[in-house]
Amino acid sequence: MRLPPVFLITHSPRQTQILGEKIAARLQPGDILLLHGDLGAGKTELVRGLAVGLGAPPDAVSSPTFALVHEYPTRIPLIHVDLYRLPVMEAEFILELEEYWQRPVVVVIEWAERLGEELPEDYLDITLTWTEDQERSLEIRGAGRRGKELAEVCEA
Ligand SMILES: Nc1ncnc2c1ncn2[C@@H]1O[C@H](COP(=O)(O)OP(=O)(O)OP(=O)(O)O)[C@@H](O)[C@H]1O
Ligand SMILES: [Mg+2]
Repeated sequence: MRLPPVFLITHSPRQTQILGEKIAARLQPGDILLLHGDLGAGKTELVRGLAVGLGAPPDAVSSPTFALVHEYPTRIPLIHVDLYRLPVMEAEFILELEEYWQRPVVVVIEWAERLGEELPEDYLDITLTWTEDQERSLEIRGAGRRGKELAEVCEA
């Protein structure tokens, strides 16, 4: 069954982080989150909330500008991937990602559209859109059983 997407509006970076913390409270090893949205849409703010919710200090998270992948040693290890600098998915990196999907970690991917067809079965998909200076609209969809459970968490 396909559920309709969840639509949310946040009015500050903090509110976007709080959504991340709320999702984090329900995360399980193996969960995957795919983030979409232009530069400055708030993807990293959401990741900051996820990391804090999993037990990292707030300043632990920055954009992985030089590295493609950051791993935070949180309650469940959080793997933060940013594909912005990878215009074409390299076969080697796809294999590396698939390895993560088998590990007891949470994976969150910025610029997830760069994955192309290389999608896992279960994931939470969040698209952030700039609406005003401090306001972002979020469209949240879940794929697979876990994705749908996590989408419901966002709705409540
Ligand atoms: N409601 C909001 N939610 C999230 N960020 C907001 C909001 N309002 C303002 N901002 C600001 O927008 C910026 C979002 O930056 P962020 O690094 O999270 O974007 P990003 O989507 O990760 O971009 P990039 O693709 O460059 O990594 C921050 O400067 C943040 O303070
Ligand atoms: Mg970012």
